[in-house]
Amino acid sequence: MYRIILATRNKNKIIEIESIIGDFVMIEPPAGLPGIEIPECGRSLLENSLAKAAFVYRLRGQPTLADDSGLFVEALDNEPGIYSARYGKNDRERIARLLENLTGMKSRKAAFRAVFVYYYAPGKYESFEGECSGRIAPAPRGTNGFGYDPVFIPNGYRVTLAELDPATKNRISHRARALNKFREYILKNK
Ligand code: IMP
Repeated sequence: MYRIILATRNKNKIIEIESIIGDFVMIEPPAGLPGIEIPECGRSLLENSLAKAAFVYRLRGQPTLADDSGLFVEALDNEPGIYSARYGKNDRERIARLLENLTGMKSRKAAFRAVFVYYYAPGKYESFEGECSGRIAPAPRGTNGFGYDPVFIPNGYRVTLAELDPATKNRISHRARALNKFREYILKNK
């Protein structure tokens, strides 16, 4: 088992990440981190993810995995994108703003993207990207998952991510796809 520090405090993400890679990685609880806000001011998912991983690596000196993710909506010039978490005060407001902005738009195509950075030695890191394509539903449906899950219908499905069982989401999600690349990398380099 590898011990890795996970540079996130988002409980929903931690649960998903543990169920995707918990079989071969022991994730150190972020509660072990001092109560410092991890900076997020980059211009891309990679910049944000790298900044978080480097920041925590410098504090702890142990291999660190960080992620940044977001929802990219074609008709909205890829908004909310890297600002997905800051698109409103809470999930309900963020979803309402998204649906409002999409009113009358022809395309409802969207994709969730995640970029993980694994920072393992001073100045040394690898990044892993994953995408889950789909479309935005007309109204929220379902209670599983978190964030924009109630309005995201993945390609090949007729239900939202919030209507899918967690095991299915964790097989097809942007996070799962990126973490499966991370798994391959670790297995190849161990
Ligand atoms: P961050 O990666 O912590 O900056 O947050 C990204 C934001 O994107 C989250 O707060 C959610 O609003 C949204 N997001 C990222 N991944 C998912 C997902 O799997 N389902 C629903 N929303 C997501």
